[in-house]
Amino acid sequence: MEFKIPVTQLIRQRRSVRNYSPDGMEPDMERQVREVLDLHTEGPMGNRVAFHLVHRKSAIAGQKVKLGTYGFIKGAQHFVAGEVKIGTFTELDFGYLLEKIMLYLVDMGLGTCWLGGTFKRSELADILNTSEDVVIPAITPVGYPAPSMSRRELLIRKGAKSDQRKPWNELFFDGEFGKPLQHMDNEGSLLPLEMVRLAPSASNKQPWRVVRSENNFHFYLNRTPGYGGFAPNVDIQHIDMGIAMAHFELSSWELGIEGSWKIMDHGKVVKKGTEYIVSWQTNDDCVSNLSPSG
Ligand SMILES: Cc1cc2nc3c(=O)[nH]c(=O)nc-3n(C[C@H](O)[C@H](O)[C@H](O)COP(=O)(O)O)c2cc1C
Repeated sequence: MEFKIPVTQLIRQRRSVRNYSPDGMEPDMERQVREVLDLHTEGPMGNRVAFHLVHRKSAIAGQKVKLGTYGFIKGAQHFVAGEVKIGTFTELDFGYLLEKIMLYLVDMGLGTCWLGGTFKRSELADILNTSEDVVIPAITPVGYPAPSMSRRELLIRKGAKSDQRKPWNELFFDGEFGKPLQHMDNEGSLLPLEMVRLAPSASNKQPWRVVRSENNFHFYLNRTPGYGGFAPNVDIQHIDMGIAMAHFELSSWELGIEGSWKIMDHGKVVKKGTEYIVSWQTNDDCVSNLSPSG
């Protein structure tokens, strides 16, 4: 499925939308959203996710239920929720798939906002009638953004410092931690890393770190101590890693830099408090494109 707008542009223009037009989407737009959901079901680690478009006033056993977001989301008539069987790297695959979906929704002129904490998970589990062995790691509202942000939305953004991102030298490294990756500008072959830097993350903690070594990009998780307790049984920062993978992969493909995800035994690149997750291995014939100024 092609993007209408270049994905690097979509990533730059995306933001969390918490204030929606209460009119909702036209039936044809709802149909298009469902099509996007149906196209994204299997993550790079092999977990399968079933995504659903859920109306705010879904009916369970004859009673109307209003999907609760603790007042964080205003006006949205629909939500996208995904259920996935608990397994290895469940949240990684979930984050990767839902972020791809969300970029397609942005491409269609719709707004989204990752919700990992501020929604009533058990209510949604009832609506979807999920079994014991599955989890709903996160959801997103979907709909047309309201013309302006609400005061509450502005306050939430200020609280999470949502308009800021960490600088390159804290996130990306050359061969080993402690040796920041030099880059000439935000263009060229290192653009996928800039797309990781711009990714959304829970509470904007930006826990991803990447070490480049020849044609491999090793992705690490720098966990925020004590974070994530608000969503029991869900590794929220693994969702962040999956989102980063989606940004890196989509922008690499757009630049014509092909590669694939692999879990590699690459030995000694370690740093206390940072855990290795996965590597992107660029295809050999793309390696010559990988000079920092490339
Ligand atoms: C996994 C994940 C969970 C999130 N959970 C919530 C949430 O529960 N409530 C909320 O208002 N925002 C939530 N956010 C949105 C982040 O606060 C937001 O992405 C971050 O502040 C950066 O802002 P931006 O998305 O506008 O770039 C979540 C984001 C991610 C990636």
